[in-house]
Amino acid sequence: MIIAVDGPAASGKGTIARALARHYGLPHLDTGLLYRAVAATVLRDELDPAQEADAVAATSFDDLLLADEWLRSDEVGKAASVVSAHPLVRSALLQRQKRFAAQPNGAILDGRDIGTVIAPDADAKLFVKATPMIRARRRHAELQKIGSTVSLDRVLSDIRARDDRDSTRAQAPLVAAPDAAVLDTSFLSIESAILKAIQLVETQLARKRELT
Ligand code: CDP
Ligand code: CDP
Repeated sequence: MIIAVDGPAASGKGTIARALARHYGLPHLDTGLLYRAVAATVLRDELDPAQEADAVAATSFDDLLLADEWLRSDEVGKAASVVSAHPLVRSALLQRQKRFAAQPNGAILDGRDIGTVIAPDADAKLFVKATPMIRARRRHAELQKIGSTVSLDRVLSDIRARDDRDSTRAQAPLVAAPDAAVLDTSFLSIESAILKAIQLVETQLARKRELT
């Protein structure tokens, strides 16, 4: 069973994907971390994320980096959205994600293009969304917790810029797959969002069983 969870920054897709992984006992891959690891490698080597060749060279990053807290910073998130627009970076990371999805018992992946590119035949697909202001408030609260003094306005404009870059790039733009169930978490608690996600997945699985 493959479950694809896509959506913009701070929509709640990671929280939902982790909860679904626990619920169904499936392995989970946060694919954003792969793009963040490429971006972190480029920044660490003082190279330019906008240069495709620099970013492609960084796709053979050291896996130990995936556990580094720095990957979760806004600086790396912003650079990740720049490196992820390069077609050669996306193709270099494609097989690794497809292999993860093809594990014998199934898998859950979250990102931007799971339902459209990585696992177009997924058994269930969710597109998680929330208003930009609500997503900015969530991200702002997370940043404050780790001692950042960045303003809410700044976080909101960064979120809008990242949405814009992710949605308008030529390859694998952020868009809901036509067969994805849309889950708006704007006014849902984490617990309600998880319950709703399980319901939506169950509905899709039941429909699939009926058809086969
Ligand atoms: O957690 P958040 O949504 O802020 O970001 P993320 O999922 O860690 O992704 C960081 C960046 O990687 C995104 O802004 C996208 O540009 C890119 N990304 C992508 O292009 N495709 C994916 N499947 C996952 C992430
Ligand atoms: O993975 P993504 O960037 O889409 O978002 P996330 O990391 O799952 O969630 C971003 C933040 O919003 C986290 O601090 C969550 O606890 C919070 N959140 C929330 O307040 N309400 C929800 N329904 C879902 C997430």
